Amino acid sequence: MYKEYFPLLTNTETIYLDTAASAQKPDSVLKTMDNFYRTSYANVHRGQCAIAIQATTLYEQARQTVADFIGATPGEIVFTKGATESINLVAFGLEHLIKPNDEILVSIAEHHANFVPWQQLALRTGAIFKTFNVLPDGRFDLDDFERKLSLRTKIVAVSQLSNVLGIVNPIHEIVKMAHAKDIPVLVDGAQGVAHLPLSLKELDCDYYVFSGHKIYGPTGIGVLYAKPEALERLTPYQFGGDMIKTVTVEKTEFADIPARFEAGTPPFPEAIGLAAAINFVSKIGMDTIYGHESELTQYLMERLKEIKNLSILGDYPEKQGLVSFNIGDIHPADLAFVLAKDNICTRVGHHCAMPIHTFFGRQVSLRVSLGIYNDREDIDCFITSLHKALHLLGEE
Ligand SMILES: Cc1ncc(COP(=O)(O)O)c(C=O)c1O
Repeated sequence: MYKEYFPLLTNTETIYLDTAASAQKPDSVLKTMDNFYRTSYANVHRGQCAIAIQATTLYEQARQTVADFIGATPGEIVFTKGATESINLVAFGLEHLIKPNDEILVSIAEHHANFVPWQQLALRTGAIFKTFNVLPDGRFDLDDFERKLSLRTKIVAVSQLSNVLGIVNPIHEIVKMAHAKDIPVLVDGAQGVAHLPLSLKELDCDYYVFSGHKIYGPTGIGVLYAKPEALERLTPYQFGGDMIKTVTVEKTEFADIPARFEAGTPPFPEAIGLAAAINFVSKIGMDTIYGHESELTQYLMERLKEIKNLSILGDYPEKQGLVSFNIGDIHPADLAFVLAKDNICTRVGHHCAMPIHTFFGRQVSLRVSLGIYNDREDIDCFITSLHKALHLLGEE
């Protein structure tokens, strides 16, 4: 019933089950960006003509929209080009505080974007990069987390919703346990932000990051939220225009937060597109989106039960929005090939999360992920095509 808002899905025969990689865009986002380029485009924070003032106003309004959506204030919002850049900004920004033998703790189920920057930070500083495990059903092993958390831990980084396991992680508990030892927590909301109602006041994490393109907005725009004291703690890792107060031959004084972290011309049309996407999901309501996708995920899980030899990575039954699986020893690419011929977009590979695949003794999996536009019919088509693939491969 929400499909009609998404031109690609009405213009083509595509059954799109790859929202975890990137979400389709509603008409309102496309029109907002098109209209902006046609009527108000000029660089922000600089010009004095009407369109430049309008562009700056819209860009700063976008910051307010993002802040309202996640329960923050505009001064706590830094625009980046995506979740990956936001995490790198924090990892580089904290480097001056990390010493040899300090510890950095992440889960084994992180996307490479929330894994490699921390591993590299440890390499640069002589700190120890540690991971905590998940239980056999894919949920965070909080005992292991507690064991690995030490007075030397300088930062904990975890995802809100895993892009492989589809499990909502217990962020409240993680934050409470870390804060009891005065350790800041970064939450990777790249998947969570589009599927879960969110209040940062409740989550109480120090840093929260996400990308615009996974919440029905454009690519090239991301968000770093941080508590003011957590932002102040970071040194900027990119330097240039717009992030300074004064520059002389002798020295540069940086701008106040958050401008200090937005060097160069920012992706302002994309920020304005992101605000349109947030308005779109807010109009539907995150509770409604959560309910729709929970019901659909349960239906998907139910239908998958009819497939023999199917093993789900982290088979905790309460999944949200996505499922990754293997069927016997069949290479998932063979299945995805047949699905693709039926115009069904899924994803095969390690989904930028090799460590969790290795943890479950797999190299790759097939992932089906849902968005607001999916319905039971999409899942029925997917299951029919999956049976067809198994039949062609001589497995049924
Ligand atoms: C959990 C998670 N974190 C981080 C990222 C990185 O997002 P981006 O590539 O938009 O920076 C992704 C993308 O798939 C993800 O699923």
